[in-house]
Amino acid sequence: MFRFKTLAFLIVVASMVLAACAPAATQAPAQPAAEKPFGQASCAPNCGYKDMTMCFPQLGAESDWRTADTASFKSEAEKDGFKLVFSDAQQKQENQISAVRACIQQGVSVIALPPVVEDGWDAVLTEAKNAGIPVIIVDRSVSADPSLYMSHIGSDMVLEGQRAAAEFNKKFPSGAKILELSGTTGSGAAVGRAKGFRQDLNSNITIVDSQTGNFTRAEALPVMQAFLQKYKAGTDFQGIFIHNDDMGIGAIEALKAAGVKPGDLFIVSVDGTRGGFQAMVDGWFQADVECNPLLGPQVAEMALKIMNGQSVDKNVLTNETVYYPDNAAELLPTRQY
Ligand code: AHR
Repeated sequence: MFRFKTLAFLIVVASMVLAACAPAATQAPAQPAAEKPFGQASCAPNCGYKDMTMCFPQLGAESDWRTADTASFKSEAEKDGFKLVFSDAQQKQENQISAVRACIQQGVSVIALPPVVEDGWDAVLTEAKNAGIPVIIVDRSVSADPSLYMSHIGSDMVLEGQRAAAEFNKKFPSGAKILELSGTTGSGAAVGRAKGFRQDLNSNITIVDSQTGNFTRAEALPVMQAFLQKYKAGTDFQGIFIHNDDMGIGAIEALKAAGVKPGDLFIVSVDGTRGGFQAMVDGWFQADVECNPLLGPQVAEMALKIMNGQSVDKNVLTNETVYYPDNAAELLPTRQY
């Protein structure tokens, strides 16, 4: 009996000693909470379009291109079932900035911003970032620091200008004098196209004059009229580079009124709208550099990825081409915009 008690006592003591010597139960050191990707929503990773409110402060309704762009976002929202907060800034940056601020107040999931001009976005983009709202820059570019937005989706405007220059180089190997009807001053589209055009234009082709028509038919018409008062078509200039189809259509009106006939001048435009195709069919445009406005589906898909915490590319450029009169009549009925 005594022996049994002693043995039991010794076992208890030994196990206490062993327990004391054993390393302390390993407790995982406190880890800093993993930082969630910027823009990730609380529904991640299972967010669906029903969870999304997208702010789309459209820059205006200045052209057929713009109308098609707006329609692309509205129809995508309807198809996918997300809420679109739409506004029209009438080509005024201050209206766009107010619209972005209203969206920040509202606490939208994402802002898809088509900036009317490149500069002047830093403050409002910083406000969106501080509010935790991701911004996708759509269509035209901004000069703001890229850390202030998630991505840019749109056309390569410099390449569009280069493509237009290539048409003039092909047409006038011995040189020529030309005019330029440019887009909205300070806009990524006008700046990029002008830059690419000048980069690639042969040195024996001179840009005699360049004026803005603000991407609209109404403003391009008087600009073309003024050009025609100053310069004699065919003698003082042989061609025109026009930054979009709407301005081209305005310019055609002025040219017709001045007695210029289709084919008298070499005209290259940008966009590839139905109006541009019709101008090729009618013999006014000799080439139309594509700029695709149907950005809604791509932007919606990217916005959902951001909400779900997935990474996205910083710059997504649209794949585009150049259209010519030879098959314009055949393609015209197939154009979506
Ligand atoms: O930013 C795209 C440009 O803007 C298009 O070329 C033009 O038609 C529009 O107004």
